[in-house]
Parts: sequence; structure tokens; C-alpha cells
Amino acid sequence: MTELRLSALGECSISLAIQESFCRYWCERHPLAEYLSCTVTTVELSDYKVSLARQNFSRSGLASHITLLHDDAERVLERSPDAAFDLVFMDAERSKYPDWWPHLKRVLRPGGLLVVDNATSHAEQMGPFIALVETAAEFATSQVPVGNGEFLAVKSNR
Ligand SMILES: C[S@@+](CC[C@H](N)C(=O)[O-])C[C@H]1O[C@@H](n2cnc3c(N)ncnc32)[C@H](O)[C@@H]1O
Repeated sequence: MTELRLSALGECSISLAIQESFCRYWCERHPLAEYLSCTVTTVELSDYKVSLARQNFSRSGLASHITLLHDDAERVLERSPDAAFDLVFMDAERSKYPDWWPHLKRVLRPGGLLVVDNATSHAEQMGPFIALVETAAEFATSQVPVGNGEFLAVKSNR
């Protein structure tokens, strides 16, 4: 069985909808879709947001696919093994992203996708992180002008 492993760093209640659609998109287009099992690991620091997320996950009927970690994303990244995730979605503390980059590139599997929210709404704050990722030869990057703007970085398969 192939497992699609996703990680979300930031507010769980908002990112779930995005994760669900990614999950469905990937699973439906995979030739072995019927054998696929998607799991989401989501990380949030705030007590209030964690309790909101728990309610949302329960209402969605997808709670059995989701591991909610009430923790600091930095600590979770530090203890995650290499190539642990197919997709990482970030909507957290933007000033911390450059510090997280060494772990982000390590925990994404070859061919994996990093999606970062607020690429256009907070372009100035995102600048240092985007510049860092754009210098990484093993990543192809792009920006999608939907919503707050999504910064995408795909890790090379090689
Ligand atoms: C900018 S808010 C997200 C707001 C959301 N996009 C919205 O529209 O309401 C960032 C979220 O990331 C969480 N967060 C910030 N730093 C974090 C960290 N180091 N680890 C885990 N969660 C973090 C905050 O508690 C907050 O819920």
C-alpha cells in the first residue's frame, strides 16, 4: 500500500480544507488510487486553535487520517526523519521559515512538494525565505496568485 504523507505547519482549522483537496487531487489521479491511503500530520502551538482543529477534524469525518500535534513546528521538524513527507503546507510564523529550511528540505521526499501561504499578501516577510529556497539547485519554484498567494517548491527526484 502506498501512503501519501502530508504535513501542515500552522493553523490546522484553515489548512485542513487545503490538505483535503490536495489529498483528494493526488489520490484520484494516481493510477493505484484505490490502494492509496492518505494521512495528514498537522502541527499547532495555540491551545485555542488546537481545540478548534479537533472539532473541525471530527466534523469532517477524516479524523482517523489526521495526527494533530500540539507542539512547536520547529521541534516536530527537528525530530522528523528524512523523506518523511510527500507534501508540506506552511502557514505559521513567517520569520521562522528560514531557520526551518534545513529541516524542510530534509523531511520532504524526492519529488515532494512544499506549499507556503501568504507569498503575495506578506511578500516582504516571505522574501528572505523565498530567496533561500530559490538558491537550492534541487528545488524548482513557482508562485500561484490565488488567495494570499502560494509559494510552491518541488524537490527534484534525483
Ligand atoms: C498566521 S496564523 C494563520 C492564520 C490563518 N491563515 C487565518 O487566516 O486565520 C499562524 C498560525 O500558526 C501557528 N503557529 C505559529 N508559530 C507556530 C509554531 N512554531 N509551531 C506551530 N504553530 C505555530 C499560530 O498559533 C497560528 O495559529
